[in-house]
Amino acid sequence: MGKATQDLRKEHEAILYVLQILEKMTEPDSRDTESLLHYYGEVVYFLRIFADKCHHGKEENHLFKELVNKGVPNEGGPVGVMLQEHAQGREYIAQMSQSLDEKNIEGFNNAAALYRDLLRRHIDKENNVLFMMADKVIDEQEQNLMFEQFEQHEENVVGHGVHEKLHAMIDTWAEVFAVE
Ligand SMILES: [Fe+2]
Ligand SMILES: [Fe+2]
Repeated sequence: MGKATQDLRKEHEAILYVLQILEKMTEPDSRDTESLLHYYGEVVYFLRIFADKCHHGKEENHLFKELVNKGVPNEGGPVGVMLQEHAQGREYIAQMSQSLDEKNIEGFNNAAALYRDLLRRHIDKENNVLFMMADKVIDEQEQNLMFEQFEQHEENVVGHGVHEKLHAMIDTWAEVFAVE
């Protein structure tokens, strides 16, 4: 397994963990409305910064581009499907955010369920199909280089301070909603 795909797989683990917490949050009567709105706001923040800007940014700006360079089809092929799913995910995040503004818990829960389902299937496809393909066509040296670009990207879009903040948020959610 190359260093770049390994980094993305690690991020998948973090995203799946947050989706598990989010599922717990959306269970009926898990908390009162005010505190739910607070935690939902934090989750939307995490999904925007970490899942979309950082993780999907690494995939779109680096990995997918390299795959297309190596001849993996974009439109009508696996890369195109992944890009479409990222765009769909952004729409669901926008719906979650809008529901938050309207203090509409049910609307948020519906959009969150669609998002979870989409992302879980998406991650499964990347882990089991796309990254396998990437490990075949992108050699170790190129993966090492890509990993350096990932670190730079992460520094640009997340930065050290925000990284710490996201970790602290996840720890708090896990405690409040009793997720292992
Ligand atoms: Fe992706
Ligand atoms: Fe991914």
